[in-house]
Amino acid sequence: MGTTFLQCTNRTNHLSVKKYIACGLYILFPLALLHLCVSPISFHAPPPNTTATVKAVGLTTSEVTGQSPCNYSDGKWVVHSGGPVYDGTSCKTIRKGQNCMEHGRPDTGYLYWRWQPRSCPLPAFNPTAFLDLLTHKHLAFVGDSMARNQLESLLCLLATAEEPELVYRDGEDNKFRRWVFRHRNSTVSVFWSPFLVKGVEKNEPAGMNHNTLFLETADERWAEELDQIDIVLFSMGHWYLHPAIYNENGVVIGCHHCPELNHTEVGFFDVFRKAVRTTLREVKRHTSGDKLAVVTTFSPAHFEGEWDKAGACPKKEPYKEGEKEMEYMDALMRSIEIEEVAAAAAAAATAEEEDSRGGNVKLEALDVTKMALLRPDGHPGPYMHPHPFSNGAANDRVQNDCVHWCLPGPIDAWNEILLQILTRWKTESKN
Ligand SMILES: *[C@@H]1O[C@H](CO)[C@@H](O)[C@H](O)[C@H]1NC(C)=O
Ligand SMILES: *[C@@H]1O[C@H](CO)[C@@H](O)[C@H](O)[C@H]1NC(C)=O
Ligand SMILES: *[C@@H]1O[C@H](CO)[C@@H](O)[C@H](O)[C@H]1NC(C)=O
Repeated sequence: MGTTFLQCTNRTNHLSVKKYIACGLYILFPLALLHLCVSPISFHAPPPNTTATVKAVGLTTSEVTGQSPCNYSDGKWVVHSGGPVYDGTSCKTIRKGQNCMEHGRPDTGYLYWRWQPRSCPLPAFNPTAFLDLLTHKHLAFVGDSMARNQLESLLCLLATAEEPELVYRDGEDNKFRRWVFRHRNSTVSVFWSPFLVKGVEKNEPAGMNHNTLFLETADERWAEELDQIDIVLFSMGHWYLHPAIYNENGVVIGCHHCPELNHTEVGFFDVFRKAVRTTLREVKRHTSGDKLAVVTTFSPAHFEGEWDKAGACPKKEPYKEGEKEMEYMDALMRSIEIEEVAAAAAAAATAEEEDSRGGNVKLEALDVTKMALLRPDGHPGPYMHPHPFSNGAANDRVQNDCVHWCLPGPIDAWNEILLQILTRWKTESKN
């Protein structure tokens, strides 16, 4: 762990003991758990043959909030008696590890909060409006298990209007899947790509304890399909904490947490920035017609104790305004994403990119880091497994997921904001 702690400490001048511990635990967790989240299932199906009845796109002006764009990320969680619009019974696509109610999570208070932006309303999720905006369009979620978590929230929200139809799945744990909503010929898909750039995932049983990344090349699993994707949402970051070797233009430029190898420790922040840059450049390269790319910003974990002991993320309600400060690493991961999106958007606007094909690409950050930070109560914790305490006190050691979100849960609000981003995009591209 020595180097990992170094990674956290040598970039912060005043690091409290608490932060120091949190940082180390934070890194330990995904190493162990991300592995668990992947169970081997393989299935091959041919790509979809989409024929559909087609409805006109309907966008009412009332759905466009205000004149100047609202900052949806600036707000607070407020009590909301209405509660979620779906549950583990009505939504058939909730992953087991996030189906907290079915797994016996006893408290339900975490379901009765809504995100309220400071200076504008955030309309409740309207599945029909969302599907209308997706008519004849393809929305792809690309990234790690946080991208998948947001996708699965969206599928549940949309299913309240129309059942998605799974038309394609492939890969271990169905890492690549595609659904259609027949009434409007809308496609929603998910691509597993934890680094976004080309990479080889570590394989501990095979003796490879680190990831290998190629920072200047986008992962072809999603990049190859970009021409068929209208809206692409990226969500990633947690895999950058793992031990890795970084290649750029054919040379090893360093590594993170690889004491047994003879490479320079370079941490993961600069590398993460390069990967985001490569990703956004790739999107601009593939643009033909209108395209929207959204980057969901880094979602902080909430470990307060050890990840394999009871009470790892024990909170039952959101933090209050000012109660919780953002950790250094979470804040930096977020600002790297925000800065790179802004830089790529500015470059696209002035058409300075020499490799742009002249299409019209819009780049947006879906800034959820603070919203997420305030919700320590929204994780599965021990309920990542069914009824973890059913055999009594013998369960001192229990695995906890304090990274992903219960469904339903706080992450549903990300998709409420995504709908507003889509609405804005549609309005702008009409003008
Ligand atoms: C939106 O609000 C957040 C939180 O106050 C702030 O950090 C961010 O800079 C704001 N974004 C814009 C584009 O003004
Ligand atoms: C369905 O949408 C796709 C784009 O996602 C489009 O290429 C295709 O032509 C549409 N199909 C029909 C029948 O309109
Ligand atoms: C590690 O790299 C240094 C500098 O490139 C080299 O001098 C040294 O021999 C290398 N050590 C090993 C064990 O490969």
